[in-house]
Amino acid sequence: PGFSVEVLPQLDSTNSTLMERARDGYLQPVLLVAEQQKAGRGRMGKQWLSTQPVGGSLTFSLGLPLEDCDLSGLSLVVGCSLAHSLDPQHRHELRLKWPNDLWYRQRKLGGILVEVCMLGRQRFVVVGVGINISEPPPLPEVDPALPAPMQPAWMQELDPAATAPSVLGQIAQPLALALHQFGQHGFAPWVSRFQVRDALAGQEVWLSDGTQGRAVGVSASGALQVRTEYGLRDVLSDEVSVRPL
Ligand code: BTN
Repeated sequence: PGFSVEVLPQLDSTNSTLMERARDGYLQPVLLVAEQQKAGRGRMGKQWLSTQPVGGSLTFSLGLPLEDCDLSGLSLVVGCSLAHSLDPQHRHELRLKWPNDLWYRQRKLGGILVEVCMLGRQRFVVVGVGINISEPPPLPEVDPALPAPMQPAWMQELDPAATAPSVLGQIAQPLALALHQFGQHGFAPWVSRFQVRDALAGQEVWLSDGTQGRAVGVSASGALQVRTEYGLRDVLSDEVSVRPL
């Protein structure tokens, strides 16, 4: 699947830019990279902070029309594709924390933000990806008092030679292909690929509505399955925040 590539030195947010363009009627497949973001966005209204110096993180969005398919599970497919491209032999401890975090050794290496723009009956999907590349010296954004799981991980821990362009080169084409396949076949063919990297599997989790339980896997539609005292529950919404107890 083809897409045009655009690299800009600075933007507020690659996701916001592609969403604005889509609202203006630009619906072609495009990969937009920002060498630096001024107002990167994460899930649930969080910020995605740019690291200094420039190049310390890879920030891009892939926008493409994706019609007539169920979008649940999309961010999981993105995570599977990224993890597989960056760790094809499972040599590294690259795991996926449902619904869309890339983790390395209990720390967050990257995040995914999927947004959808409807233009009449046409649907345009924007898949934003942020990956930490190199640790900035020192780390001003991170409070040293943060508990260890909140500290980030960096691609250069896996591969000291990793740079933002080299990582993009590894992941972009397989990601476009994965999205194309998802558009045709949905999430079901990806369940086992997700489960081998599922960071929450077997863990006690705490849902934001107060329920506790044990994560046991994901369903064919990408829901997190949690065994609670009331039975097996499919956690469907991306808006449910899940963290290990
Ligand atoms: C998260 O961890 O909550 C998701 C983070 C997603 C960050 C990326 S960086 C490129 C793209 N543009 C944005 O504003 N956000 C995403």
